[in-house]
Amino acid sequence: MRIILLGLPGAGKGTQARTITKKLNIPHISTGDILRQASEDRTPLGLKAKEYMDKGHLVPDDLMIDLIKERIKREDCKKGFLLDGFPRTMPQAEALEKISNIDKVIKLRIENEVAIERLSGRRTCKRCGAIYHIIYLPPKREGICDRCGEELIIREDDKREAILKRLEVYKEETRPLIEYYREKELLTIIDGGRSEEEVTRDLLASVR
Ligand code: AP5
Repeated sequence: MRIILLGLPGAGKGTQARTITKKLNIPHISTGDILRQASEDRTPLGLKAKEYMDKGHLVPDDLMIDLIKERIKREDCKKGFLLDGFPRTMPQAEALEKISNIDKVIKLRIENEVAIERLSGRRTCKRCGAIYHIIYLPPKREGICDRCGEELIIREDDKREAILKRLEVYKEETRPLIEYYREKELLTIIDGGRSEEEVTRDLLASVR
């Protein structure tokens, strides 16, 4: 199955994608994670992307479209994939349509205030990418990843100014995709404001 996960920053896309792709045995393709890794590795793409990401702006469409074209050509995507963070603009959605057939688009719906609260308290593992929250999903030892023991960090774009910018960018650039996929009868909306387990249950039910 080829799935797109949409939703505001902080809607829980990364958290849910990690769980459901394991259950469905398909790759989790997070453009945010790919760009952060490229930035960490100081590749030309990573260095360029970092300037946009840290301020909460989108990375240019041509870079993102090339990146996804390459990624979904790989062997592990033959049986399906889950896209987390792509497409995010109309040109990206139109480009994707030319390279792959999508089976399902799921939007995790949350309010802006919930997004701000979640992103302000998010902590991320520098090594394995595991996602925590200081209140809703705290690690066993403060500041340390339960899974790999690495230090947890605050993402540069989880600072207040960048969070507000990302919410604004979502409204302008990404929200129009909801109507686009609704018209194609691919869209399912799930209330992402509930507990992680409740959201996972509904997500799995919607793709089976
Ligand atoms: P990206 O990494 O994709 O960020 P995002 O879409 O803004 O989404 P987030 O990762 O912030 O949130 P999420 O929905 O995954 O929530 P999470 O599960 O972590 O993109 C980052 C940047 O890269 C972009 O701004 C842009 O610059 C660039 N980029 C990426 N793709 C691009 C593209 N296609 N085009 C152009 N530029 C692109 O959860 C958040 C917090 O909430 C966590 O602390 C978590 O523990 C907690 N939480 C999750 N679920 C629950 C729950 N049910 N209850 C309570 N807490 C919860």
